[in-house]
Amino acid sequence: MNSKKYLIANWKMNKTVEESVTFIRELLKNSKLYKNEVIICPTFLSLDAMRETCLKNGIKLGAQNCHFEVQGAFTGEISAEMLRSLGVEYVILGHSERRNYFGESDEIINKKVKAALESGLKVILCIGETWEQRNNGQKLDVLNNQLKFGLKDLNSEMLKKIIIAYEPVWAIGTGKIVTEKEISDVSHNIEKFISAEFKTNFKCSFIYGGSVDVSNVEKFLNLSCVDGALIGGASLNADKFRSIINISENLNKI
Ligand code: 13P
Repeated sequence: MNSKKYLIANWKMNKTVEESVTFIRELLKNSKLYKNEVIICPTFLSLDAMRETCLKNGIKLGAQNCHFEVQGAFTGEISAEMLRSLGVEYVILGHSERRNYFGESDEIINKKVKAALESGLKVILCIGETWEQRNNGQKLDVLNNQLKFGLKDLNSEMLKKIIIAYEPVWAIGTGKIVTEKEISDVSHNIEKFISAEFKTNFKCSFIYGGSVDVSNVEKFLNLSCVDGALIGGASLNADKFRSIINISENLNKI
């Protein structure tokens, strides 16, 4: 567990460049530098336009995807290298929407993880079970497999650049949330997995995502195993996202 919390906005396919720039101005109205690690992941298009204001104010930029090759004939794709050269520090990989709608396998995700690390990006690796898998008692197997293949060929040093985001597929955008006990159990399971697989007692940063909003974020961040939150819908509104950040900043004061 880190003392700094991660507050990560995943905007998905939302906001034009103009709307992104307006958001960041609104967010930063009357704000001081945050102690926690605030990361905004807009569409690729908005990264450059947001860059100066974000970096000047200590807000980090993340991308929502990258390709695993450095360059070449991959129409429509963007490499980790290109993101890095734009001042991007993080990339979300393995999101369930990429797995489900774009057919990304664990093998592809693993190639992307390695390419991202190679380029100097930090990786927010998403794992999560569907409702059906959960009800069939397959949850931990599914999560362990996503970890096993997603982190294949990495060494324990590389784990320091990985944030594991537990996002149950059924909790994304639904208002349904998991219990604190379940999050702790998943975190504990990941620790066990990492220790067995990588022969290290290093604990990867662990965050939760899925219907996180102003009303419940404190509960998640208060769990000692939780290093932050990955936020979709509630991060699209500057007032809500500021409130979420402020809640996290106040926790640190205690
Ligand atoms: P919501 O916060 O809208 O449930 O989305 C979560 C998510 O998918 C973040 O990556």
